[in-house]
Amino acid sequence: MSKNQKFARTLVTCALPYANGPVHIGHLAGVYVPADIYVRYLRMRGEDVLFICGSDEHGVPITIKARAEGCTPQDIVDRYHKIIKDSFTGLGINFDIYSRTSSEIHHKTSSDFFRKLWEEGKFITQESEQYYDPEAKTFLADRYITGKCPRCGHEGAYGDQCEHCGSTLSPEELIDPHSKLSGATPIKKKTSHWYLPLNDYEQWLNCWILDGHKEWRSTVYGQCKSWLVGGLQPRAVSRDLDWGVPVPVPGAEGKVLYVWFDAPIGYISNTKELLPYSWEKWWKSDDTRLIHFIGKDNIVFHCIVFPSMLKAHGGYVLPDNVPANEFLNLEGDKISTSRNWAVWAHEYLKDFPGKADVMRYVLTANAPETKDNDFSWKEFQTRNNSELVAIFGNFVNRAIVLTHKYFEGKVPPRGVLTEADKAVLAEVPEIRRSLEENLEGFRFRDALKDAMALARLGNKYISDSEPWKTAKEDMGRTGTILNVCLQLCADLAIAFEPFTPAAAERLRGMLKVGLAAGFDHRAGEQQTENTYKEGEAVALHTVPEGKASEGTLKWDTLGSTEILPEGWEIAPAELLFEKIEDAAIDAQLERLARIKAENEAAAKAQLAKQVEPQKAPVSFDDFGRMDIRTATVLEAERVPKTDKLLKLTIDTGIDRRVIVSGIAEYYSPEDMLGKQICILANLEPRTIRGIESKGMILMAKQGDGSMRFITPQEAVANGAVIG
Ligand code: MF3
Ligand code: ZN
Repeated sequence: MSKNQKFARTLVTCALPYANGPVHIGHLAGVYVPADIYVRYLRMRGEDVLFICGSDEHGVPITIKARAEGCTPQDIVDRYHKIIKDSFTGLGINFDIYSRTSSEIHHKTSSDFFRKLWEEGKFITQESEQYYDPEAKTFLADRYITGKCPRCGHEGAYGDQCEHCGSTLSPEELIDPHSKLSGATPIKKKTSHWYLPLNDYEQWLNCWILDGHKEWRSTVYGQCKSWLVGGLQPRAVSRDLDWGVPVPVPGAEGKVLYVWFDAPIGYISNTKELLPYSWEKWWKSDDTRLIHFIGKDNIVFHCIVFPSMLKAHGGYVLPDNVPANEFLNLEGDKISTSRNWAVWAHEYLKDFPGKADVMRYVLTANAPETKDNDFSWKEFQTRNNSELVAIFGNFVNRAIVLTHKYFEGKVPPRGVLTEADKAVLAEVPEIRRSLEENLEGFRFRDALKDAMALARLGNKYISDSEPWKTAKEDMGRTGTILNVCLQLCADLAIAFEPFTPAAAERLRGMLKVGLAAGFDHRAGEQQTENTYKEGEAVALHTVPEGKASEGTLKWDTLGSTEILPEGWEIAPAELLFEKIEDAAIDAQLERLARIKAENEAAAKAQLAKQVEPQKAPVSFDDFGRMDIRTATVLEAERVPKTDKLLKLTIDTGIDRRVIVSGIAEYYSPEDMLGKQICILANLEPRTIRGIESKGMILMAKQGDGSMRFITPQEAVANGAVIG
């Protein structure tokens, strides 16, 4: 079977998504789709595999969102847990359990974990000065402090980051910091926390990762290496906060476990919840192979922090591999929740009903495995229309329709094979070998190319051998061709199961065959002490009613030349994939264009509000020397060959004169005609573009650079002195 003979079972986890928002295509491409492909493959190979996930329901952003919406953190996580869970179901991501870290069993499991380390002296305590809100009487997480960004001047930068210029900040750096809770100016106050001294695990990590896991993806290995080379510091594992798992030791009032301490323990809690009597087999035996699917921003936690926690605790298996992905961009821009620049899974499922497979396919074909990648709706459409529909779907459709047309829907007998037939059949085991190697090596893009190569092979074979032509003189030959085609259809139903499971199921329906898909641990959900027996799991076979077991596809059938016996009855053809029309794509692009415009307008409005600091003081006399007065525009024209300049002839009350002003970007000559303005009358004359300009028009210049002229609220006489 697989190459990992030393392992008896595989435990696959996916990063627990934060329940403070829905999941988007970046999450799907980075973590959940590849993990599901891998698990479906292992299940088909009959391996004992468990697939664990759940919502990460603690952490500061959840409390901030609750405050902003005037509800409780529990309300927030209840809402998003459901949306996220339904999205995964809709996309065919088949976890054995999808639970949540607010569960009782998780609180107990993570408290026990912490307490054991504490009792064994595995933590150190350190005092530090943290920002404290004297009015709300609470410590402030970095996100709860806002102020002006020291780098770009943006008001409303957070204590950990400025979202405007992207700088990473510490709360100390903020100019004029204030609390988001009460608005008060925070003060520094001493607080004590528990730390895991990662530095003590450095040597061990060096051996385990740098020497022992050279096979990890270079992006993952490289990140670990740079952390380890840089030297590790003790990491705080508690926070002053009222949302989370309370620190379960004396003297810890008002403190909870840091979210990155409790969340990965969620993998264990969720396994426990599913298999209360056999979970230890999955976590505490050396012959379990643990695989974490995550995004690149989670590497340090899964490769360094969590393994150190497990090591400190003792008795747990460590990850054998951590196939972290890079990031997916959307239409050339970074996906951003705060800017709503994303394709949300639940919205996609609503907008494209029945098309979960298409998204799975596109995200895999374009997976950010070795570098960041881009998702575009045009590419999505092309991949659907010219790959899934035109190659895979088209081949299957032709094979099945012709079988009904010429052979009453029964697999025709296979006559003598030509060299071409043999060559086609011989290619399948080759493709299978490559497919397996790629799946086992976590190269899902390449694996999908292999599966697609099988569809291309079939599509080319049926086009080249033209059974619709041979049917005119040689029905025997036609039967042979269609027999080969139908075997290839059965191969496709196996090969595509990990990637496009709903389509694979529809195809199996047409071929009237089932799938032997290994074990189903969900059957264990009902475990009780009495009913559970060691090693128990229910074999999952989806054989259609009344069909012999020869109608069951297994991974091992892939490439055998006679999967479907002669005379096997198949069902009528139905469409495997539908064409996606321009209108559906345009609607998505319009939505994104609208969001982009909104974001730009918001950014501009934000910028316009920025004010310059006050200038150095001037004396009353300095001010008195300025001759500022009202005037009216009599004539206005553009200064030829310039974009910015208007030549204005004005009545100053004293005289009639010309001023050249750089306002043409904001006002046309017609706008200015007859307007009353304010001028600095005694500015030394200057010659601009050959025109003598006598004085200056007073303008209000906003933070975004835009300008408005100043006009008296009510008409006043020209030449009235302002001061
Ligand atoms: N919620 C985290 C994120 O979305 C991932 C947590 S993974 C776990 O980045 F291991 F902590 F569970
Ligand atoms: Zn900034």
